[in-house]
Order: sequence, then C-alpha cells, then structure tokens
Amino acid sequence: MEATDISQDLDHVLYTQQQLEDRIEEVAAQIDADYQGREPLIVGVLNGAMITVSDLTRAMKSHCSVDWMAISSYGAGTQSSGVVRILKDLSTDIHGRDVLIVEDIIDTGLTLSYLVQNLLSREPASLEIMTMFRKPEAIDCEVDVKYIGYDVPNEFVVGYGLDYDGRYRNLRDLATLAPHVYS
Ligand code: XMP
Ligand code: MG
Repeated sequence: MEATDISQDLDHVLYTQQQLEDRIEEVAAQIDADYQGREPLIVGVLNGAMITVSDLTRAMKSHCSVDWMAISSYGAGTQSSGVVRILKDLSTDIHGRDVLIVEDIIDTGLTLSYLVQNLLSREPASLEIMTMFRKPEAIDCEVDVKYIGYDVPNEFVVGYGLDYDGRYRNLRDLATLAPHVYS
C-alpha cells in the first residue's frame, strides 16, 4: 500500500504551523509572568491536548510539572453531553497545587465544566484553564477560561492534536477536512 499524503484530505487551513507557534510563544510568556514565584502543575487533557502541552511547556521559561487526564464524554456522535467519565486520572495529588488545565478545544464547555468541578473538589491552591482553540458556542459557557490560543469558526477542525476518527493529530496546521473524508 502506498503512503498517502495527509494534505490530500484537507479542505482549507485555518491556522498555519507558524501562526500556532507564534501564539503559543505569546501565551507561554503570559503564563510565565502570571506564575512568577509559583510552579504550576499543567494538567493536559488526553489525547487532544498532547501537542498543545508539548509546545506550551517547552515555550515556557519557568519550572512546571505535567500530568495527564483522559476523559470520555458519554453520548452520541460529535455532540458533547456533559456527562463525563474519567478514563485515566491524575498521578499527582493536586491539593494545594497551582493547577493549569490545558485543553485542545472548547465547544460547548460541558466537558470542561465537569472537569473543573471535579478538580476543585480536590482543593488545589488555584485552578486556571488554557485552551488552544475556542468555538463560538463556548461564549455561553459559564467556565472562566484564562488563556485562549485562537478562536475558530463553528466547523469541525483537525490537526495540532485534534483528530477525526483517530487520525490527523499529527498534522502541523489546523485545518478542515475535505468532504470526501466524511463519506
Ligand atoms: P465541549 O462541547 O464539551 O467539547 O466543550 C469539547 C470536546 O469536543 C471535541 N471537539 C472537537 N474535536 N475537532 C475535534 O477534533 C473539533 O472541531 C471539535 N470540536 C469539539 C474535543 O474532544 C473537545 O475536547
Ligand atoms: Mg478533548
């Protein structure tokens, strides 16, 4: 079987590798400044946040630790239900820690609001959120997101950690998929 080039599956690029890199640098500098004298525990939400966490932490100039959670949203298809199951919990006790949740994308915010409630019950010293992408519906979300990479239109996007059916996470740009991929 011949290897197929991922770019054949794309419709259009929303943010290039360079734009994503530049924005990550800016957010990392902001986080460095905000956490002066403190050492945040970055909580990456698997699998989507894998690239954002890798790039963000390497762009930071101050100390941090990293831990991961994997959660799955109950309910059908692409619509988030807000009922969330923890597939992999943290290895770290976050009591008294400065926790920064790092998400790939916020759509309705339902997944995030569950996660925030859950982590707050463990009594961290502080809890903030960084998301690489935010969709328009997220504006109605009652969860306060401190750091945002880029706003994206209400389209299904892939790349930079985001997948369709497990694929495209390794795409360096953020893009939409060509119709032939879905059929
Ligand atoms: P809610 O609605 O709970 O959902 O904020 C957030 C989660 O939904 C997934 N999601 C996407 N995944 N491309 C993706 O690959 C998208 O355009 C997209 N929109 C939402 C994602 O898992 C996110 O954590
Ligand atoms: Mg996700």
